[in-house]
Amino acid sequence: MFDSEEVKKDFPLLSRRDVVYLDNAATTQKPKQVIEAVIDYYENHYSNVHRGIYTLSEEATDMYEKARENIARFVGLRDASSLVFVRNTTEALNLLSYSLGTRLESGDEILLTEMEHHSNIVPWQFLQSKGVRIRYAKLTESGLLDVDDLVSKINRRTKILSVSHVSNVLGSINPVKELCSYARDNGIVSIVDGAQAVPHMPVNVDEIGCDFYAFSGHKMLGPSGIGGLAGKPEALDELIPFMGGGEMIRTVTYESSTYADVPLKFEAGTPNVEGAVGLSAAVNYLRRLGMQNVKKHEMDLMQHILNLEDEMSIRNLRSYGPRDVTHRGGVYAFNIGNQPSFSVDDLSEDSTLARGAIHPHDIAAELNKRGIAVRSGHHCAMPLMGLLGLAATARASFYIYNGKSDVDLFMSALLEISRGL
Ligand code: ALA
Repeated sequence: MFDSEEVKKDFPLLSRRDVVYLDNAATTQKPKQVIEAVIDYYENHYSNVHRGIYTLSEEATDMYEKARENIARFVGLRDASSLVFVRNTTEALNLLSYSLGTRLESGDEILLTEMEHHSNIVPWQFLQSKGVRIRYAKLTESGLLDVDDLVSKINRRTKILSVSHVSNVLGSINPVKELCSYARDNGIVSIVDGAQAVPHMPVNVDEIGCDFYAFSGHKMLGPSGIGGLAGKPEALDELIPFMGGGEMIRTVTYESSTYADVPLKFEAGTPNVEGAVGLSAAVNYLRRLGMQNVKKHEMDLMQHILNLEDEMSIRNLRSYGPRDVTHRGGVYAFNIGNQPSFSVDDLSEDSTLARGAIHPHDIAAELNKRGIAVRSGHHCAMPLMGLLGLAATARASFYIYNGKSDVDLFMSALLEISRGL
């Protein structure tokens, strides 16, 4: 097991700024190992990849492809060419909506869940104009996926199942292996949004057995603007390219083109080489800590926070998501008092806040005054907020450099805020 205080020392920002950083579901801080890897690439190896036969270009190409191999191994892919570099999870899901969408017909169905992030809803809604129907599997009272409801919504028109591995609001961990096996048995394309999973727990895409798995580098210590779309080789092979341009072609004439093999078929234009190099360093860092340990660390923090919730009885504190930490990632969405949903056109209506309630933005602002950074708002999950009958929540989310002392500070601050101090 690792010591979060020791880990923290590797993160320059966390020693330079007086902040308890609890917005890790949005993005994570970067260790010096990642920063140095990016600087090394810029200072010593920078050039374009796959295009030059001079030494620098060969070095850059080698670094880019070695990064792909390393990251692919980290997410359990046997074959590195099954990893396409994209900007982030959002881009991966848009790529899939675009490419798979060309195969769908009016009346076909896409099955999602009620806990999805906007990036796993909006790209599919683009397909509604061609008559594709989107359905949503329900959640249980405790905030877990209702698997029976999901299975009951599978029928012969269901063509795609796309689910988050871990919810960015409730923290719920979904049984993706089981879900992908249902999908396979029914000839349905299965997609997993792993944005909140790959950074926090061991993930083996080959074992999950999905057709496609998407994740973002910036949420796992890596640079912004780099992420992965992992897929089964044959599933990737069958997709049409998302963007055309240099790098993704084999031959081009004035009349037509043929495409490069996967993964380059999906990497039009100069890629984010520094991002890939930085993400590879991030993966090395996480591998050294051990992903089982990362998961255990976050489970311990979450258990600690739930215990404190019971012990401290903070007035009107309400949190969301499963209470059993074995089914939950390190995400703690909460409110003080009731925060009923209201129309965005009617923001002046402050009477919607129940007596004793504090708006999540005010909670976040108060926490900020005490040096604690949390997110507040709808967390890019407006449909889920509506389902919970809420306009918004505040949210603390944890990572490897947060320790129990951070949780203690956070909960003591909440107690003060709830008392109007
Ligand atoms: N999806 C990110 C979050 O949940 C940005 O905060």
